[in-house]
Amino acid sequence: MVAVYFDSMDDDTRRRDLYQGELFVLSPRPTTLALVEHAREMIEEAFAGKDPRTAQYELSVEEFVAIVAPLKPAFIHHPRTKALIQAMLADLGCDPEATYFDVPRLRTMTSDDYLKAGVGYQFHPHRDTWFSAPLAQLNWWMPVYEITSESSMAFHPRYFNEGVKNGSSEYNYYEWNRTGRVEAAKQIKTDTRKQPKAEEPVELDPQVRLIPPVGGVVLFSGAQLHTTVPNSSGATRYSIDFRTVHRADLERRIAAPNVDSAPQGTTLRDFLRATDLTRLPEELVLEYDNVEEHSGVLVYDPARQ
Ligand SMILES: [Fe+2]
Repeated sequence: MVAVYFDSMDDDTRRRDLYQGELFVLSPRPTTLALVEHAREMIEEAFAGKDPRTAQYELSVEEFVAIVAPLKPAFIHHPRTKALIQAMLADLGCDPEATYFDVPRLRTMTSDDYLKAGVGYQFHPHRDTWFSAPLAQLNWWMPVYEITSESSMAFHPRYFNEGVKNGSSEYNYYEWNRTGRVEAAKQIKTDTRKQPKAEEPVELDPQVRLIPPVGGVVLFSGAQLHTTVPNSSGATRYSIDFRTVHRADLERRIAAPNVDSAPQGTTLRDFLRATDLTRLPEELVLEYDNVEEHSGVLVYDPARQ
């Protein structure tokens, strides 16, 4: 059983339910629409008059990548992006003193097998916690243009409490930051970056697809097994996602259950407090870090996203 809540604004209750595998959909609000509008402006400027949703049909794969690859770091590092997230979190009921977020990503998913690797990477079923995300991580996902079921994201809620054999124990987040990300823009046809994957058949059905309107948000636990649906909608999908953690939950070890995640390292050093953009105290991060040689060293370099 999975419950889907709509427009629940009490963050304490919401987090507790998210850690139990429930899903949330939040309706568009001025603060969420402002973030989407900002992303649209950047995307539309990059495509210089072409419709970003259908430009893939007029451009070679190389031309498309040349437009989209620089757009992503530009969005991450744009000073307005973080400010809009801060405003949005406060508006959506999060305590800005206790809530830490990581920089939002702008993702593209082309339609009809146009671009399968690198900047358009299609994620196989995974939990973010296989990729060194803390079990208390919450994921916020927003479409930038209208989506349909054919260009959405799918959840496989039966696995929230059921482990899947997977390769997360061979994944080291610090190693990935050193080598993996810089390669992404170069990978066009196939993606050779090593990713934790399910190592046994996963029953993808029944699955849950949530289709919010533009400006709406899908909110879920980072321990939730999810997939990007292969896009067959006929339009490139653009989405924004970012993650949050709540400091008191980290301190009290309140989180989703760990059914099968065993990666090395932690992404916790990436998170910035919603008030002043300071990082979590290193002593707290160390409680979640299982890689000794990197303890105390800030390995994350946002310029390499
Ligand atoms: Fe994910």
